[in-house]
Amino acid sequence: MSTASDPHSVAVSISPTTSNLHSIFRKNSASASVAASIRPPKVLHPFATDELRLLLLENISQGAVAHFKAQGFQVDWYPKAWSEDELIQKIGQYHAIGIRSKTKITEKVIKAATKLLAIGCFCIGTNQVDLLTAAKAGVPVFNSPFSNSRSVAELVIAEIVSLSRQLGDRSREMHDGVWNKVSKGCWEVRGKTLGIVGYGHIGSQLSVLAEAFGMRVLFYDVINIMPLGSAKQVETLDKLLQESDFVTLHVPELPETTGMISTKQLALMKNGAYLINNARGKVVDIPALIASLKSGHLAGAALDVYPSEPGANGPHFDDQLNNWATALRALPNIILTPHIGGSTEEAQQMIGEEVSQALGRYLTTGSTIGAVNFPEVDLRAISADENTVRVCHVHANQPGVLRQVNEILGSHNVEKQFSDSKGDIAYLMADIADVSQEDIQSIHDRINKTSANIITRLLS
Ligand SMILES: NC(=O)c1ccc[n+]([C@@H]2O[C@H](COP(=O)([O-])OP(=O)(O)OC[C@H]3O[C@@H](n4cnc5c(N)ncnc54)[C@H](O)[C@@H]3O)[C@@H](O)[C@H]2O)c1
Repeated sequence: MSTASDPHSVAVSISPTTSNLHSIFRKNSASASVAASIRPPKVLHPFATDELRLLLLENISQGAVAHFKAQGFQVDWYPKAWSEDELIQKIGQYHAIGIRSKTKITEKVIKAATKLLAIGCFCIGTNQVDLLTAAKAGVPVFNSPFSNSRSVAELVIAEIVSLSRQLGDRSREMHDGVWNKVSKGCWEVRGKTLGIVGYGHIGSQLSVLAEAFGMRVLFYDVINIMPLGSAKQVETLDKLLQESDFVTLHVPELPETTGMISTKQLALMKNGAYLINNARGKVVDIPALIASLKSGHLAGAALDVYPSEPGANGPHFDDQLNNWATALRALPNIILTPHIGGSTEEAQQMIGEEVSQALGRYLTTGSTIGAVNFPEVDLRAISADENTVRVCHVHANQPGVLRQVNEILGSHNVEKQFSDSKGDIAYLMADIADVSQEDIQSIHDRINKTSANIITRLLS
């Protein structure tokens, strides 16, 4: 629903190219709109709500704190995660909470969070939040799933070069005091074929980087995607496996991708090829990979993800965790990393920016773009010279709701409205022009009394 001239227009990461293009476009349109003195957007304030209070836990970046304070929110910041009991005691005072992966937002916590409007997960995953209960309580959850794509793509490039030059082994030997200068089985990557499985955010970034290295790029994806540069989409996974010198996996963990690379697929790969997995641990059948490496069919592999991963740092990568760990660790030319593909300072910074923007945008404009448990709804910004009130109505997804609400709004000038649903939850945004304070009070009270109402906010 956002438009090109709308300075509040929002980039959603939906395809390899759009996320980058949108952000460039957004920057350009923002500066162009300043230059052309296009009507500035109005800063909206919630009706009938105290000053908005935010709780930030787990050492969330000071950049995010500054962003929220600049928007007029009161911010309480703590370096550590809170326990469920602590949250239950104190969360009732807050309108939004920002966490990383250690704070668990359970059903009990959500029930105690009587003022809560939104949750921001300043990380990739959202498993730490009871998403369904949050949605039913009218609370959207925001995260930052794609801010580390570039970091993963760069790690894969490092792994391609490291595998083809056996860098891991040479480095380990030198640490053991062994000088082993060899060129046999060591290759340049120029002119070699990289096969990318899953051409999404990471796969497509990688495609560009690999071509800059002089590699030929093939990719396989379940959807047809416009290739970047000179990359070429192939029709089957088998074809990609048969033609590639390096195969790298960038698919989500789904029932159909579990065990996607097993004995049959490994046998299809070229003799002397390499396999790289930075996607999810269950995508590769690791005992089958061990057999292929032992037989000498594959020349090496790099793994960043595993079917079972330890919950904390320490000497945990053993046979108790995965019963093949010792066999895997003993193999030559295999790079093993502890799920660090996306772990960079830049990715952390981008997570902070993206989640604080999404959370702030929801609180101040009602936009749910980027929410994981909510329908994505947005309206173009209200300009500063408009006497308009925005209705943000979260309700149960059941028949007859829009008729009830439109009866209330029907006697006013509804300038624009948009609604969508996801599962049991539906969300309506509507902008009503030329309303008095009494009208606002009446609209607020009447919508709040409708039978399917969960949370209704009015912003003006
Ligand atoms: N190692 C790390 O630290 C790290 C960091 C970020 C992401 N990841 C993982 O990397 C993977 C890719 O992430 P992304 O952000 O590029 O995801 P994405 O959603 O942008 O792209 C995934 C692509 O895979 C395609 N796909 C889905 N099922 C497929 C199938 N059966 N066969 C072929 N293609 C299929 C999709 O169409 C999509 O184009 C995910 O599993 C993600 O969890 C790992």
